[in-house]
Amino acid sequence: MEINIAVVPVAGHGSRLLPATKSQPKEMLPVGRKPVVQYVVEELTRVGMERILFITGQGKSSIENHFDLNHELIEILRETGKEDLLAELDFERAPLRYFFTRQRQLLGLGHAVLCAQPFVGDRPFAVALGDSIIGMNAQSDVVRRMAASFIEKKADAVVAFEEVPMDEVHRYGVAQPKERGDLFELADVIEKPSREEAPSNLAIAARYIFSPAIFDALDRIEPGKGGEIQLTDAIRLMIKEGGKVYGMCLREDERRYDIGNFESYFRAFVEFALADEKFGPDLHCYLEELLHANHP
Ligand code: UTP
Repeated sequence: MEINIAVVPVAGHGSRLLPATKSQPKEMLPVGRKPVVQYVVEELTRVGMERILFITGQGKSSIENHFDLNHELIEILRETGKEDLLAELDFERAPLRYFFTRQRQLLGLGHAVLCAQPFVGDRPFAVALGDSIIGMNAQSDVVRRMAASFIEKKADAVVAFEEVPMDEVHRYGVAQPKERGDLFELADVIEKPSREEAPSNLAIAARYIFSPAIFDALDRIEPGKGGEIQLTDAIRLMIKEGGKVYGMCLREDERRYDIGNFESYFRAFVEFALADEKFGPDLHCYLEELLHANHP
């Protein structure tokens, strides 16, 4: 069994990033030199995904354009002698096939995943949130490791988790592991627990492998706040009904960069820009001067 389909939900409002996201998708905001979703697709290419299904929505057409071949731009760069810039468009030639479907009502991440059912059919598949980069410059193979464990354990789902400080657990779906380790079976997932209620400090980290059984679970859960269908509720239902659901911890060098709010978006931008081979060293000096001038 091979897992080579990745579903990338990109339909969300991105309201926490207003006004930046009023007329452009948050997934197209740049982090360093590239838009967020390009890092996501590059990560998925490296781990062997062959088909990418974007779950899009209103105002998201720039994502389709970004992954299209732009012959006109290539010609202009050639004609104007800017051949050196052509390499920046190499990602257009990745050995991938892109598919797009629209989530016509924004009823939550679970609903977005459900929109993939007619495409995915009865095969296992990966889900990678389009607003989260895993690892500096997306150098993570966690999806490959998760897929291997999914097959080895004959699992129903494998979910990526990242350790977060205890005073941040209230923002995430948090694991209740049956045992501790890099790969663990889940006893439950608690959505946004208080620090006191949290069974661990392991927060869901934007990457999943699912068997098609997730669609059945998504069909049967009750919508939550605002009519939203929560992916975490469907995962809980799978566990409750005896499904084998595993968690996999991100390695230390595989931090999750969540672009969904300004605090983490700004941090991610600065970190990626500082790590840029060409522009990073100058920026480093500039930031040092700036910080020194403000706090001598
Ligand atoms: P978020 O949970 O951050 O939701 O989405 P959001 O609606 O985009 O952001 P806010 O809360 O309004 O600021 C996580 C990922 O899931 C996608 C988003 O596009 C993002 O990549 N998503 C979310 C959907 O595709 N559909 C949805 O209904 C919700």
